Amino acid sequence: MRQDLLEFVKAAIRNPMEVASVFPTSRALAERMLNLVDLERPGKVAEVGVGTGAITKYIAPRLKDSKRYIGVELNSDMVHYMRQTFPELHFEEAPAESLAQLTGGERVTTVVSSLPWTVFSPELQKRTLTGIHDALAENGRFVTYVCLNAAWYPQAQHFGGLLNGMFRSVTKSPIEWKNVPPAFVYLCTK
Ligand SMILES: C[S@@+](CC[C@H](N)C(=O)[O-])C[C@H]1O[C@@H](n2cnc3c(N)ncnc32)[C@H](O)[C@@H]1O
Repeated sequence: MRQDLLEFVKAAIRNPMEVASVFPTSRALAERMLNLVDLERPGKVAEVGVGTGAITKYIAPRLKDSKRYIGVELNSDMVHYMRQTFPELHFEEAPAESLAQLTGGERVTTVVSSLPWTVFSPELQKRTLTGIHDALAENGRFVTYVCLNAAWYPQAQHFGGLLNGMFRSVTKSPIEWKNVPPAFVYLCTK
């Protein structure tokens, strides 16, 4: 098994309520998300819930300057793996809700998330989304996804409501069927 997959599956088994999936994001879904944002726009690019880099590997080649990137991940084994795999990128072992503190007032123009929103409690959803929103510059873009199998959970409905209450504009993509499970993407503008 590929090293990134092995690390991901190990973490998923040890921390099912944090990783919440045994399948990393597919290339099709990662590209669908990244095609909605402009990674060349001046300012920081933050990725939250980096895991073992399923999306990071498509972000890295699109960055003109790797110093503009910050990756945030709760799981220390994954952070260790990511620091070894992408030595040119900066990773913080921290909860995504602390993004505004981690970026210390720097202008963040894009946040890419694969956080498992539908296993988060309503309180954790709100704290985390507030941390992301606070970190984003005006007109900054936040892109994230929800898997179809969880889209009818109350947590998914709650999450959608929070997005609509917090962001100036929120759009939903068509379903990406080439992901396991299929998922749709939210694109939010502050
Ligand atoms: C569904 S996995 C996605 C991993 C990878 N980015 C991908 O796309 O396959 C969710 C990741 O978010 C991390 N995570 C969960 N809660 C978090 C939080 N509050 N702050 C930061 N990372 C978190 C998990 O450890 C896991 O690596």
